[in-house]
Amino acid sequence: MTTQDIVAVEGSTRPDADVLLRATDVTKTYPMGRKVLRAVDGVSLEVRTGETLGIVGESGCGKSTLGRCLVRLTELSGGRVEFDGQDISTLSARRLRPVRPGMQLVFQDPQASLNPRRRAGDIVAEPLLVHRYGDAAAVRRRVAELFDVVGLASAHLDRYPHEFSGGQRQRIGIARALATDPKLIVADEPVSALDVSIQAQVLNLFADLQEEFALTYVFIAHDLGVVRHVSDRIAVMYLGEIVELADTEALYEDPAHPYTQALLSAVPDIDDGTLTDEVPRERIILTGEVPNPVDKPTGCPFRTRCPYARERCALERPRLAPTASGRHTACHYPLTG
Ligand SMILES: Nc1ncnc2c1ncn2[C@@H]1O[C@H](COP(=O)(O)OP(=O)(O)OP(=O)(O)O)[C@@H](O)[C@H]1O
Ligand code: SF4
Ligand SMILES: [Mg+2]
Repeated sequence: MTTQDIVAVEGSTRPDADVLLRATDVTKTYPMGRKVLRAVDGVSLEVRTGETLGIVGESGCGKSTLGRCLVRLTELSGGRVEFDGQDISTLSARRLRPVRPGMQLVFQDPQASLNPRRRAGDIVAEPLLVHRYGDAAAVRRRVAELFDVVGLASAHLDRYPHEFSGGQRQRIGIARALATDPKLIVADEPVSALDVSIQAQVLNLFADLQEEFALTYVFIAHDLGVVRHVSDRIAVMYLGEIVELADTEALYEDPAHPYTQALLSAVPDIDDGTLTDEVPRERIILTGEVPNPVDKPTGCPFRTRCPYARERCALERPRLAPTASGRHTACHYPLTG
């Protein structure tokens, strides 16, 4: 991969301006017997300070693995990640420690990610204790403040996770992520496990917190309906690769990659649960299964399901590159531009 392949922040006159996180050719593989599972396969992207970058794709395409690589909760198999100007991909555990507070993860399932035997207040206090925030009184004050910030009653500090509703449990997870005053939050499907009526409340909380604390988000979701509401730009993943990256509106109005077009063909709108049909577009129905990432197709990973595939698609892997219309797409025959 050359430096030209790095996806510059769209609309930015200086490609380096205000970049908080930069991933370059990030790869994560798992050995599977004599084969190799390519969970994340050469991902390059930049996240600008204060923006929300959405990451979307079907189950198993590598979203969570990428999210964990970005905050170095998973060791990379290749490539690098720079956070706030520092290469964090090779830092030792000791040198990573002071960087950790600045980047936090919010998990999909608050039920599973919160220790059921610990009180909510102690769960939120844990990162403060790990990073030696202050004495017991200071920690108590900070936890009460965090409860307030995420809309939980401080009277409930001593309750256990099962005594909260699903939405409240996710608020505990968010308070825990906010405790160390991070710059970056990677939210991995933070509303997927919640009732639709609760989803909007939690998404609004994310938006309010972003404004209040100048947070930068990487927001992972499996459906475009949710990411559209929160993202400035969206990266579409397929079989470990980013196949399209564009401003949210451009992506919705004019998808360049056939896979994005297929995902958009039936996007349920979170507001009323009905299909959005604001932009008349040709519908393509995805047929067939996502190939096993242990046996990725040669050439373009999407070619086994792509209605537009031609001979070249089997021979040559398309690289994520700028199209004439300003977005980035990995397709030999993009639909626009
Ligand atoms: N620790 C692991 N060991 C082996 N394979 C793994 C491991 N973690 C993830 N994988 C595999 O890597 C691929 C990507 O998984 P990942 O969980 O990142 O996908 P995802 O897009 O987050 O899916 P979902 O939408 O279901 O959460 C999958 O094929 C998965 O089985
Ligand atoms: S490169 Fe070919 S197979 Fe892949 S998305 Fe583009 S047209 Fe389809
Ligand atoms: Mg996942």
